[in-house]
Amino acid sequence: MQELRLGLVGCGAIAQWHARALKDLGRTRVTACVDVLAENADHLALLTGGEACSTIDEAMSIGVDALAILVPHHLHQEVVSRALDVGVHVALEKPMAPSIEACEQILAEAAKHPDKVFMLTENAQYWPEVLIAQELISGGAIGDILTARSWHNFGITPEFYPSPESWRFQTAQAGGGVAIDTGSHWMRPLRMILGEIDQVVAVTGRIQEKMQGESLVRALCKFDSGVVASFDVMLATGAVALQPHFQFTGTKGEIVISALGEVRLFDGTNWQGTVVGNGNYMDSYIGVWKDFEAAVLDGTPLAADARYSLGEVRAALAINRSNESKQWEKVW
Ligand SMILES: NC(=O)c1ccc[n+]([C@@H]2O[C@H](COP(=O)([O-])OP(=O)(O)OC[C@H]3O[C@@H](n4cnc5c(N)ncnc54)[C@H](O)[C@@H]3O)[C@@H](O)[C@H]2O)c1
Repeated sequence: MQELRLGLVGCGAIAQWHARALKDLGRTRVTACVDVLAENADHLALLTGGEACSTIDEAMSIGVDALAILVPHHLHQEVVSRALDVGVHVALEKPMAPSIEACEQILAEAAKHPDKVFMLTENAQYWPEVLIAQELISGGAIGDILTARSWHNFGITPEFYPSPESWRFQTAQAGGGVAIDTGSHWMRPLRMILGEIDQVVAVTGRIQEKMQGESLVRALCKFDSGVVASFDVMLATGAVALQPHFQFTGTKGEIVISALGEVRLFDGTNWQGTVVGNGNYMDSYIGVWKDFEAAVLDGTPLAADARYSLGEVRAALAINRSNESKQWEKVW
């Protein structure tokens, strides 16, 4: 196979971001745009050159080798199951599913199709600034890690929260609040660099009335190594100042990733630190599709196994348990 014909299932907010990333990919062509809402399918078809349709069966008759599943969380299992049944490669958006049981069922289904690629689309795995920091840290630039912090704030944007009834506000559909949703993009880099999380202790809050799940998370994550990192996520109600996305503190120095994509190394040579790289979060989506394309067309292994993403789902669930128990909660 020289070209990957991709169908997008779910043509809402994130599909538009993926459409931009897929534009110049080279060997992947969007052929089908599937949505239960015809206007969303039509819009994505215009953006990508694919053909609008309303079911996976229609996408099959148009011609697809793979499907990207970009639907609300509570629909992941049902839609992935259908995609696997029709015999295509599958890329599923994070989180795999709202519960570990559902995640395990999805993984079991995917395992029945060993000749097909099953990717869990966590774009933070390809976040350029994070990859720069990861390489520096593994090369010893800051010595052994002592501690780290991550910070993420965003607001109620019409793009992702179009109405008070949006699925993201409903726990039954989203599976929780910001920890299981956007939080994963900040949890993944912590895990990539610090390893597996053993326990968390957290306080969560509901600062957004419309959101049934948590809209504020203040958590400490204790990793298997014993290192403790803080994890802050907020769906803010007003303006907030920019803070670093990540700060990794080691025995010899520190690496800071700014919210504007700058990577700065503090190693004692310059008190202001040295800019060692710049990146753009949006390029992480290009990384997703390059990895998927190579896995399908060249048989190369994915940067991260789909099962690895259960670490973010487990951490989010443990954060919510900890808020209830007021104690450290095991993640695994
Ligand atoms: N990686 C990221 O940065 C990122 C950002 C936002 C969302 N996401 C993930 O992407 C997924 C979708 O989120 P979103 O914000 O795009 O949601 P959205 O509500 O904007 O879009 C979902 C789309 O799916 C369609 N849909 C619903 N049921 C369907 C079905 N059975 N078949 C086909 N289409 C169906 C809806 O009509 C809608 O157009 C979620 O898993 C979410 O967590 C990832």
